[in-house]
Amino acid sequence: MSGVVPRMSEVVPRVALVVGSTREPRFADYPLTWLLERLGTRDDLEVSVIDVRDVALPDYNLPKAPAHAQREYSSRAERALGERLDNADAFLFLVNEYNHGYGGALKNVLDHYFAEFEHKPAAFFGYGNVGGSRAIEQLRQVVAELNMVSVRETVHIFGAQFPAVREGGAAAAAVFDALEQRLTVMLDHLLWWARALSAARDA
Ligand SMILES: Cc1cc2nc3c(=O)[nH]c(=O)nc-3n(C[C@H](O)[C@H](O)[C@H](O)COP(=O)(O)O)c2cc1C
Repeated sequence: MSGVVPRMSEVVPRVALVVGSTREPRFADYPLTWLLERLGTRDDLEVSVIDVRDVALPDYNLPKAPAHAQREYSSRAERALGERLDNADAFLFLVNEYNHGYGGALKNVLDHYFAEFEHKPAAFFGYGNVGGSRAIEQLRQVVAELNMVSVRETVHIFGAQFPAVREGGAAAAAVFDALEQRLTVMLDHLLWWARALSAARDA
């Protein structure tokens, strides 16, 4: 079928699931496990994990802003991650909330790149006392500066639900089952943008 350009609806978007927490152990692994299980049931996306904990970038120290030096990588680690970000059509951020903001390591990753994120959609799954909402709203401002589109719908685990999630079994299942519908709606919107913006970037 060489030479046949797939119609937009035939493209399966590649979703990068970005895990923001870098500590060990971390709560993030509970929603991460559930998200990977749920995303794995869908045949309208491909998922890969970008774990900020595994990213070997120094604190940002480059002379030129990435927006003005697109894909001018200064290290193998920066290039390797840049190529993974480039390969993604959409981003789903798993957002921890520290002092009413998102984690600093995630900001360091975002600051190292521009073109790799530009014209792509972002969705957010937050957790914290108020579901990571404050961190997510800050992150929306940042992704807008990267020329991304942020999806309106979000999914949250609230602090009062943390013990049930940690307990596992039926208690955790009850929390996650209640998130299922929201996750579906959020992903549907993320994929709509991913397909639309992928076609627009190709054009
Ligand atoms: C430095 C620090 C600051 C925190 N600040 C907040 C906060 O402002 N709001 C909130 O909801 N939770 C806050 N928490 C609680 C975190 O939401 C909770 O520890 C969660 O487990 C963090 O996710 P992680 O374990 O995946 O890193 C804070 C935790 C830490 C370690």
